[in-house]
Amino acid sequence: MPSAKIDFANLPFGLNASDVMFVAQIKKGGEWRSVPINSSLFPFQDLSLSPAAQVIHYGQTGFEGGKAYRSSKGRIVSFRLEENAKRHARTSARIALTPIPADYYLEAIKATVLANKHLLAPPGLGAALYLRPTHFGSGPQLGVAPAPVETFMVFVSPVGPYFKGGFTGKPMLVEENYRRSAPGLMGDVKVGGNYAGSLLPGTRAKANDFAEVIYLDAMTGKNVEEVGAANAFFVVNGVLYTPKLTGTILPGITRDSIITLARDMGIKVVDDQPLPLKFALKADEAFCTGTAAVVTPVGSIAKGGKKTTFNNGEVGPLTQTLYETLVGIQEERIPDPYGWVYVIG
Ligand SMILES: Cc1ncc(COP(=O)(O)O)c(C=O)c1O
Repeated sequence: MPSAKIDFANLPFGLNASDVMFVAQIKKGGEWRSVPINSSLFPFQDLSLSPAAQVIHYGQTGFEGGKAYRSSKGRIVSFRLEENAKRHARTSARIALTPIPADYYLEAIKATVLANKHLLAPPGLGAALYLRPTHFGSGPQLGVAPAPVETFMVFVSPVGPYFKGGFTGKPMLVEENYRRSAPGLMGDVKVGGNYAGSLLPGTRAKANDFAEVIYLDAMTGKNVEEVGAANAFFVVNGVLYTPKLTGTILPGITRDSIITLARDMGIKVVDDQPLPLKFALKADEAFCTGTAAVVTPVGSIAKGGKKTTFNNGEVGPLTQTLYETLVGIQEERIPDPYGWVYVIG
């Protein structure tokens, strides 16, 4: 799809056509750097896989999400991409894939973005190229063992905002039957199976007009863990609370950024304790964070037929300030004292 045909202002968040993808393969334990970046760029196309590929049977796959966009300075940038590289390496190690060195990972993403740069929206429209690096066991094998061949691919998709309806308070539903993760499982990495498990509860919630589900912890069923594929924040009496990272929650890069911004604004942040739902429901403001969600206000939370509304369902003042500061830094409209903006070209 030529970029001239993309209606950037009305672009949905989803898979939209792109032109070039990156695909590299190694034997298990091989050297990623031995596969040249430039000869690994191909027209976007279907993959050819053995029916016995480990990814199909045993879900040996991990991925990341990122965004590349034109900043207000006209540069092609991303946000804290080095952190995605580190997290992806942890994910790969957890499912016995050969971690991809950060420099190679970042070069592959840069090359893919630059090869699709005609699909980048002009600054200020809120559209971006979503980045989807994925690393999976592609070699054939019948037994439960790490795949003999691994594939690392990167594709991109021009996208608009993640949640429909713009920057407004979204209705959320507490998921009472299903848990996202449990101690010792893989909640702190981005493996495909975590997301397979979220499809049923997420689909049911959306069919009932909720934007997302709120997951509780597996051990007590009392503490807030995550909001779908985003981290949870609550403002109670001027203090910002987010659940402690205990291994069951994905350590969001946006979460870390929001904690840093809030502390630097002089706001007290509590991020080292479990967050009981009962306490969270007393909040003056609630929001969730993620690469896709950015900062998304939570307007209400429903549990067992009872709905709690935050700030009359409107965007709260701290939510607004944190959102504007984060997006201002990301778009290079305000200074970035943290070195978070990652320049691609
Ligand atoms: C389960 C889950 N939690 C939280 C997040 C937010 O993480 P980040 O801010 O790094 O995008 C994501 C998205 O990557 C996610 O999939």
